[in-house]
Amino acid sequence: MTYNDAYSLLEKHSQTQLLRFYNELDETEKSALLSQIEELDFSLLALTKNRNNYKKSGTFSPLGAMTVSEIERRREEFEKVGLAALKDNKVAAVLLAGGQGTRLGFDKPKGSFNIGINRELYIFECLINNMLDVAKRVGGCFPLYIMISDKNNADTVDFFEKHDYFGYDSSKIHFFVQEMAPSVDFDGKIFLEDKGKISLSPNGNGGWFSSLKKAGYVEKLKEDGVEWVSIFAVDNVLQRVNDPAFVGATILSGKECGAKVIRKNAPDERIGVLCLEDGKPSIVEYYEITDDMKNLKDENGNLLYSFGVTLNYLFRLDALERSLSVSTPYHIVEKKIPYINEKGEKIAPKTPNGLKFERLAFDIIRTFDGCLPFEIVRSYEFAPVKNPTGIDSVESARELLRLNGVEL
Ligand code: UTP
Repeated sequence: MTYNDAYSLLEKHSQTQLLRFYNELDETEKSALLSQIEELDFSLLALTKNRNNYKKSGTFSPLGAMTVSEIERRREEFEKVGLAALKDNKVAAVLLAGGQGTRLGFDKPKGSFNIGINRELYIFECLINNMLDVAKRVGGCFPLYIMISDKNNADTVDFFEKHDYFGYDSSKIHFFVQEMAPSVDFDGKIFLEDKGKISLSPNGNGGWFSSLKKAGYVEKLKEDGVEWVSIFAVDNVLQRVNDPAFVGATILSGKECGAKVIRKNAPDERIGVLCLEDGKPSIVEYYEITDDMKNLKDENGNLLYSFGVTLNYLFRLDALERSLSVSTPYHIVEKKIPYINEKGEKIAPKTPNGLKFERLAFDIIRTFDGCLPFEIVRSYEFAPVKNPTGIDSVESARELLRLNGVEL
């Protein structure tokens, strides 16, 4: 693309500010900027005018979960089926590690954060240790695909190599890169991150399956005979992934997916709730749920919309492939976005100054016929690290790790 082509394209979309410093760039920087402009998806910009384009509009009804007591009663039956599927190499996992973890304020990949106190214990290490528990029972590691972004790609791969994959079978680990989207100010103008660089950020965790496919790994999964794929977030340090009981219960349910859920600790807890929307599984975010829904109780006084999702799902691979034909919405979120102002100065804002475009993994769930909500014990399996202190923080996760006998 030539400068003139880029200029007319940007003019059409009112984005010529991106060429403001063009004449100050060297030849390599100029051509890198022109390529970035060529690849921009301008259709996203229209969404800023209608920020609630993804508002849910269906009719909701509660969805009960398979409770901890039922799981304990049937544990042997579930584990038998789950272990058989794992032993037959029918189950894989995808770790969603492409986020920027801005709330934690740590400038390296979140998984490389040391949560230990008297010894080194990294977030990735906690996750791998739990997966190795499954590997011990199965007699081998399940395939683990790790989604990263252009922002943390090299750092994440180097970190795993340097730590010898924390004892996981490295031949079973594959990295793939997710897509990026431009960041804009509140008027929809795309930011420059540097004089010759457009501000791009990971486009949310919702594009994980199309990125996996683009990397050629969906074909590999099929060739390898994999039938089930789980996804999980990087930040829950107590997370159990593909544990045989969960795998077995999901398979035996006959549903296309299973979701690990926790019982909400209060109607106002800030967690997405798994329910039905027009009879299909759906997740209502904490900021979308109405007061009526939040407080609705059964005849015994129990909350009806009471099971929150933990970003730990198991999907049938054929249902995931089918979901590719359905486009899930972009969510528009306010964030603090570092940028270059019109004087060429770098600005690191302290409050949100713009918008990012994100697709979210849980939106895919609406494309499935059914989902098994599988209750987990919160204190044993749920310790997300989102913030340095307070709720869902390094502090609270350390406390829960200790409670589970993990030495810090
Ligand atoms: P979060 O919603 O916590 O986002 O991600 P984040 O970017 O990591 O953190 P904040 O909001 O900036 O503090 C939940 C999970 O989804 C992954 C994250 O790595 C985490 O495991 N994720 C998020 C991606 O893989 N890609 C993305 O674009 C965003």
